[in-house]
Amino acid sequence: MKTPILVAALGILSATRLFAADSPSFPVADLMPIGVYYYPEAWPSNQWARDIANIKKMDLDFVHMGEFAWAFMEPVEGHFDFDWLDRNLQLCADQGLKVVLCTPSPTPPVWLTQEHPEVLMVDASGRRMLHGTRQQACWNVDAYREYVGKIVEELGKRYGNDPRVWGWQLDNELSHYGKEPCYCDSCQAKFRVWLKDKYGTIENLNEAWGTSFWSQHYQNFDQIRLPNKEELVAQVNEHALLDARRWFADSAADYLRFQTGILRKYCGHRQWITSNFMHLFGAVNPALSGKDFEIITWTHYPVHGNLNEGPLGFRLGGAAAMSFSHDFHRSINGYEGLMELQPGQVNWGDVNPQPYPGAIHLWIMRAFAADAKIVCTYRYREPLVGPEQYHYGLVGTDGVTPTTGGEQYSQAAREMALLRKNLRPDAKEPAAYATRRTALLYNVESRWSIDDHKQNVRWDTMEHILKQYRALKRLGCPVDVITEDKDFNQYPFLVVPAMQLLDSNTVERFTRYAENGGHLILTCRTGQKDRNGHLWEGPWAAPILDLIGAKIKFYDTLPAPNTGKVKAGKTTYDWVSWAEVLEPGPGTTALARYTDQYYAGGVAAVTRKLGKGTVTYLGVDSQNGGLEAQLIREDFQRAGIAVENLADGFLVDWRDGFWVATNFTEKPQRAPIPKQAKILIGSANVPTAGVTVWEE
Ligand code: GAL
Ligand code: ZN
Repeated sequence: MKTPILVAALGILSATRLFAADSPSFPVADLMPIGVYYYPEAWPSNQWARDIANIKKMDLDFVHMGEFAWAFMEPVEGHFDFDWLDRNLQLCADQGLKVVLCTPSPTPPVWLTQEHPEVLMVDASGRRMLHGTRQQACWNVDAYREYVGKIVEELGKRYGNDPRVWGWQLDNELSHYGKEPCYCDSCQAKFRVWLKDKYGTIENLNEAWGTSFWSQHYQNFDQIRLPNKEELVAQVNEHALLDARRWFADSAADYLRFQTGILRKYCGHRQWITSNFMHLFGAVNPALSGKDFEIITWTHYPVHGNLNEGPLGFRLGGAAAMSFSHDFHRSINGYEGLMELQPGQVNWGDVNPQPYPGAIHLWIMRAFAADAKIVCTYRYREPLVGPEQYHYGLVGTDGVTPTTGGEQYSQAAREMALLRKNLRPDAKEPAAYATRRTALLYNVESRWSIDDHKQNVRWDTMEHILKQYRALKRLGCPVDVITEDKDFNQYPFLVVPAMQLLDSNTVERFTRYAENGGHLILTCRTGQKDRNGHLWEGPWAAPILDLIGAKIKFYDTLPAPNTGKVKAGKTTYDWVSWAEVLEPGPGTTALARYTDQYYAGGVAAVTRKLGKGTVTYLGVDSQNGGLEAQLIREDFQRAGIAVENLADGFLVDWRDGFWVATNFTEKPQRAPIPKQAKILIGSANVPTAGVTVWEE
């Protein structure tokens, strides 16, 4: 056992989990309760008791209600009706089911928007959205906040001390479903206030936005509008756009904080509070709510159309994206869960295929492996009317017969019960696993900044990040996807993919990290701009050059159908989107070279020692992530760390004493189970969509 000793010798790297796992809301002993959405307001009241009893018969733990029910909670302004909700809460309590209650702010009743049309959001072409569907209101309009404040206050007063209510979900997938931001007068005004706060003077803003070009210069803040492609003849000012994205995300977090503040007056921390963020949707930033919520939850529909990782991706979903999302949401404050997980076929994809047999169980157990504290599925009954026809539920159109999805949720719930029985509270994270613990730095602002100016349509920022992530999961690494406010020093490895926006302070932190024994891996497009999105006055990516021990001579991008070649060791890989040609300095070793284009022989990746640690720079985005997989593996090997050799899409993780293997590939996989281990679920041979759980 060479590896743990090596890490211990580094002294500063403890390689432990970032967060303590136990909490009053989510005790380890409960593992991962499983629940489901139910809409009493949409079903005949004489079926409520039957439906809720059947949810219990499916072995589920909790029921989720109320996020769209404003018109029923407050049918007439100031007149509240909670009778129907009380009855359903009691039906749940009678069955021993906990309840997650919601604030209904995504769906204002028609009387509200009729009386106050100014609360309706305005899209990029200046059209005011109308009543119907959801998320039509703007949370930056004071009048809307007042109404939301009142209904949340009523809910808080009534249920904030009600033991039948376990926790709260605010709003629903806060956004305007792709139409964001809102361009109403109130948003325009609030954006200006935000800018004034940030810049103090208009001169500072002019400088930060580079307005001397094209006479964009502003004389005062009142002249500024949210950057809007529909209002502008040529390119949008990208610094203005970056600030608008920051403002929008801040305003969303502020709105959630506003609702949280009201509920906390009544529930304190006895009930937990969260909101359900959309899976890797960038316009709202869940990390900004980390301190406000006990748990960060998100919504996930792995199968809707052509999501592909391998030939069965359209039925199994993307393993890496799903796992990354768990690791990101968990790392925000230590607690994460899935508030909506697909129950079966959905209705809103371009194509809506059936999930692979067992896939739903696979997703639930992947959530378990990733340390999710809850999994809830959308929805219990398949709707017979309305915009979500064709959407599966846990029961079919007859309202009682479990669907294949329903059976898989029950199966997972029974397995949770089995695992709870086998839980050993003293189980320690296995040492070899801990030595591979890696932090992957994710900065949504860098992602925005690159996505707003990609330089090559063939570049995909999220895909690039996932290439590094997949490489790590193939080695069997536990990964925390962290934001910069976290301490890097407890991680033996730190991966920084395409972090375009940087400052010297962060580069200094990277440098100290490596000097103290950390293994730092940076990838292309890192550090090319400052936090305002300005290029550096100096050599390209100036602040990281000393750190990586190389210069970046230039970068290249290729138009279709061209493919470039890059070789590491004996293997050659394709690239198409982004390639930097590096010039290593003394003490820096080339790891990969281009083998074609006019710069054949040019260096594509380098590594060097720095203090007690190492710095590696991957200057190219390979087409399928193969180069990243090879070079990251070699990095771990040079550091003397024992790694796994798992197939891409076969994920194995440890949680609370249990090893969990989940197979998203189209082939059976062999779980790395030691002889003395006890298999609790599945078998050593893990079929497609299979799950195996064992204890060592
Ligand atoms: C989610 C949404 C739910 C429901 C679901 C259907 O994105 O939050 O309310 O519409 O999609 O799949
Ligand atoms: Zn607005």
